[in-house]
Amino acid sequence: MKETALITGASSGIGAALARLHASKGGDLVLVARREDALDALRQELERTHGISATVIAADLSLPESAAHIYATTKAAGLRIDMLINNAGFGYYGKFHESDLGRAQDMMQVNMGSLVNLTHLYLQDMVARNSGRILHIASAAGLMPGPLQAVYYATKAFVVSFSQAIAEELSGSGVSSTVLCPGAVATGFEKAGNLEGTSTWDNAASADSVAACGYAAMEKGELLKINEPSLSFMLNWVAPLLPRKALLKQSRKSMEKSQ
Ligand SMILES: NC(=O)c1ccc[n+]([C@@H]2O[C@H](COP(=O)([O-])OP(=O)(O)OC[C@H]3O[C@@H](n4cnc5c(N)ncnc54)[C@H](OP(=O)(O)O)[C@@H]3O)[C@@H](O)[C@H]2O)c1
Repeated sequence: MKETALITGASSGIGAALARLHASKGGDLVLVARREDALDALRQELERTHGISATVIAADLSLPESAAHIYATTKAAGLRIDMLINNAGFGYYGKFHESDLGRAQDMMQVNMGSLVNLTHLYLQDMVARNSGRILHIASAAGLMPGPLQAVYYATKAFVVSFSQAIAEELSGSGVSSTVLCPGAVATGFEKAGNLEGTSTWDNAASADSVAACGYAAMEKGELLKINEPSLSFMLNWVAPLLPRKALLKQSRKSMEKSQ
């Protein structure tokens, strides 16, 4: 039986790459984001190329009611969601006290609030069926504090914690929760967050490679995955030994723009 994956933030970057990968395996899709035109173009491409069926739901995940709307839409269409991929998210650049609080609140709703709401809704069905896979796209940013992106890093730390905690609650249930923590990835993220000019994206990974890494980790039901082995070593074995202030200074330096 074909497995259906619901992917948020499927209109570009890692989400679109995950959609292409799932479709190439013959899976059906529910594609969610705000840009309906981009989602519809992807739907047509994937239906034509892979003979799968894709459903587009245009939704703004900065609105707290969007998750319930998405869930109701899939239920009304009789769709069973076998994989929930919470990928939508965005960042920003600047000191917190100088930043736009409204944008930070939207970010918290997209990166955390709607992710929790969607997970709560679809997880109940998955547990009742004793099967399902959840993949959260967090970030390496979730594993340390991030001066000049304080709220973004904190939202990703929330996702890292949340995903691992529910993974443990779900042990033996047939349902898994995996969190992917990528380093820099070449997508629309840098531009959307006004992050151009920082050195972080000089050697960014491709969206396709990150999607493949996350998808494989989800299929295996892994707890937490970092896509780059060197980054994984640094975050797991070096960073915890550094004095906090040194870590913060290093983290800030990686985010500063060259003028
Ligand atoms: N790129 C990186 O360096 C990097 C590194 C680590 C983690 N990540 C994480 O990877 C995930 C995907 O980002 P990406 O790199 O692929 O960037 P991207 O190309 O900018 O994609 C972000 C996606 O999120 C969607 N989105 C943003 N705001 C939304 C909203 N209010 N409602 C619904 N959808 C919304 C966008 O769709 P619409 O604009 O059409 O709504 C888009 O499809 C994010 O969670 C990001 O934090 C990225």
